[in-house]
Amino acid sequence: MKIISANFIYTPEGFVENQAVAFTDTISQIGSLETLQASYPEAKHIQTEPNSILFPGFINTHVHLEFSSNKTSLKYGSFMPWLYSVIEHREDLVGECDNSVMMGECEAMMRSGITTFGAISSFGNELEVCENTPQRVVFFNELIGSNAQYADMLYGDFMERVKASMSCKPSSRITPAIAIHSPYSVHPIILQKAVNVAKEHKLPLSAHFLESQAEREWLEHGEGELKSFFKKYFSTETPVTNIQEFMYAFDTYPTHFTHCVQANQVELDYLAQKGHSIAHCPRSNRYLGCGRLPIENLKLPFTVATDGLSSNDSLNIFDELRAALLLHNDIPIQELAINLLKTVTSDAADVLGLNCGKIEAERAADFAIVTLREAPKRHEEIALWSILHTKEVSALYIEGEQYV
Ligand code: BEZ
Ligand code: FE2
Repeated sequence: MKIISANFIYTPEGFVENQAVAFTDTISQIGSLETLQASYPEAKHIQTEPNSILFPGFINTHVHLEFSSNKTSLKYGSFMPWLYSVIEHREDLVGECDNSVMMGECEAMMRSGITTFGAISSFGNELEVCENTPQRVVFFNELIGSNAQYADMLYGDFMERVKASMSCKPSSRITPAIAIHSPYSVHPIILQKAVNVAKEHKLPLSAHFLESQAEREWLEHGEGELKSFFKKYFSTETPVTNIQEFMYAFDTYPTHFTHCVQANQVELDYLAQKGHSIAHCPRSNRYLGCGRLPIENLKLPFTVATDGLSSNDSLNIFDELRAALLLHNDIPIQELAINLLKTVTSDAADVLGLNCGKIEAERAADFAIVTLREAPKRHEEIALWSILHTKEVSALYIEGEQYV
């Protein structure tokens, strides 16, 4: 047993002052240091630095590690030029992205306090790194392929990857999961088969959805910039599905939809009614010129996530939270800061179905310690100061073991 004490603890009830947490690999009890030391006299006491806040480890629900080598290869600013640049540089980028590059990014995520991430995997290349990092990883095997001619072959490859992620050792902390690339790039027949696999094995399910104006125009009217893209690369001028048909395919299984920036109110309400959630990637949306998700009107849970380095400049969760504060400039900043911290802790854990993300008895002992340079003068500002002043956490624990 260990006992960690901090000036503030971020609990589901808000920030509590001068308390401590007793833990092994899970949290045993929260209380005053004196009470916990009386209950566990043998426990090692960890006193955090002055002005520290104990958070549950942060959760980044959506990241593409396989594209971690991108710095200046891909074209930012607008979605379609970016997509063309992905096609042009994909092989080089994935080739340069070896295990040491990906492990370096897992370590960077840990330094920013991320103890859990959702890895969207196109090829399965990052499985070994995800097994070796101490972080908890929801391993989203991605299905892609709109061309019916190749669909069975692509589905077969996808199922091989799903099986490989299902046979990881429990000590690797991997949860196998399924991702659908997008409505425009996945044939509805294999889409339905993949959704059925998720249902059968109760696997977390995710899908990119309505990221760009080009996607919307293609799915609604078979027009726009994706038309020439599909003509060039797939010799087709008709989309394989539409917005409604795609949404309905997930009707009975709660899914984590990424982006939804171009979804209208009717579609957002429909997703909410069906129990789905959204991964909101503010920097990715801004860098690819996709627009702003109106989080102030959402009636469904959302998480804040970094997306990959293919559409971002870092996988640091605090960089992402600061971007969200700036992007959503009409929302009162203190209120937004409090909500944003929830999206990367308890809400993200609920979405991914994991027993972490909350400082509460019986939860996993995953912690991120944020240390401010001076004492917060007003309790109600702790969330904002934590986001604004943190580049890296001062310590990080996963299942009770320290890694930063
Ligand atoms: C497709 O298989 O349809 C596809 C693949 C990559 C990007 C866009 C579409
Ligand atoms: Fe993504």
